[in-house]
Amino acid sequence: MGTARALLTHSCSGALEMVGILLDLGAGDEVIMPSYTFVSTANSVALRGATPVFCDIRVDTLNIDETKIEALITARTRAICVVHYAGVSCEMDTILAIADRHDLIVIEDSAQGYLATYKGRPLGTMGQFGTISFHATKNISCGQGGALLMNDPDYIERAQMVLEKGTNQRDFERGSIDHYTWCNTGSSFLLGELAAACLKVQLQRAAALTTDRIAKWKYYHQSLKALSETGRIRRPVVPPQCVHNGHIYHVLIDLTHKRDQVLSALNAKGIEASFHFVPLHTSPFGKQVGQTRSRMNVTTDVAARIIRLPMHHDLSLQQIEYISETLTNIVESY
Ligand SMILES: Cc1ncc(COP(=O)(O)O)c(C=O)c1O
Repeated sequence: MGTARALLTHSCSGALEMVGILLDLGAGDEVIMPSYTFVSTANSVALRGATPVFCDIRVDTLNIDETKIEALITARTRAICVVHYAGVSCEMDTILAIADRHDLIVIEDSAQGYLATYKGRPLGTMGQFGTISFHATKNISCGQGGALLMNDPDYIERAQMVLEKGTNQRDFERGSIDHYTWCNTGSSFLLGELAAACLKVQLQRAAALTTDRIAKWKYYHQSLKALSETGRIRRPVVPPQCVHNGHIYHVLIDLTHKRDQVLSALNAKGIEASFHFVPLHTSPFGKQVGQTRSRMNVTTDVAARIIRLPMHHDLSLQQIEYISETLTNIVESY
């Protein structure tokens, strides 16, 4: 087998769970990750009985703060799982160097990162593992779908078994064995054929769809420039070494206590703005199975101030203008 592989899975959650199995995570093992992420990042660790250890995020990209990772490493740490929020890369060179120093695995939860890059390298391809989502909310979608990217040849063969319920069915299908059998822990992580057929067409159009998404992102950015210059909102920040994919357009508003009112006012005008994530270290299950050993000030602050504006392929530039104008009027009225 070659040195890198991608396996299609039924979801990014499934791909993350496969990583938990491949690493043989178990009780006592720790995986460092941001608290500001989707539950699947942490579930993949909790499902193995291991412990998610939450790290604060950077105020600019809302990605894991690489300067706070090393203080969280213990003898039990097995991996660092980074999340490329909104398709903007984490500071990978620093993170890979930390992992190298401490002999840790790097998992890139790149659910939101398809076709985005860091210093020219595609997100999801820099750590030992990368996971992608093709869920309906993502730039490229087949309803429910995902992929597991692997750089380390040691895991590739077993991953094929984990994908196929822990069996060597793949070898059987290739004709190299006359029956297949149970060889490993596994589950049914495969992407269904109908979804795969939809994904094939989406992948053929991926570059054009991403270009269109980035154009919409830039239109928001320009339309909200004046409001950001008043200091009432902060627009997304993309470091120069990162090429993003326009997955999310979000703003941080200055008045934390008004965020929910701003959201309700936008919703009342027919704009489906929302917020996310609820930081995992504050969630009931996160408190039960996770560990928070350091201050989570940025995470808490960002989660209270973020507004995620509508972003999808059918969104027109006129709608973006309407949303931007409406947001400006609402924010200025407070
Ligand atoms: C950061 C992150 N990780 C994992 C997932 C899970 O992806 P999926 O719905 O494909 O399982 C998501 C989905 O939104 C996500 O945003």
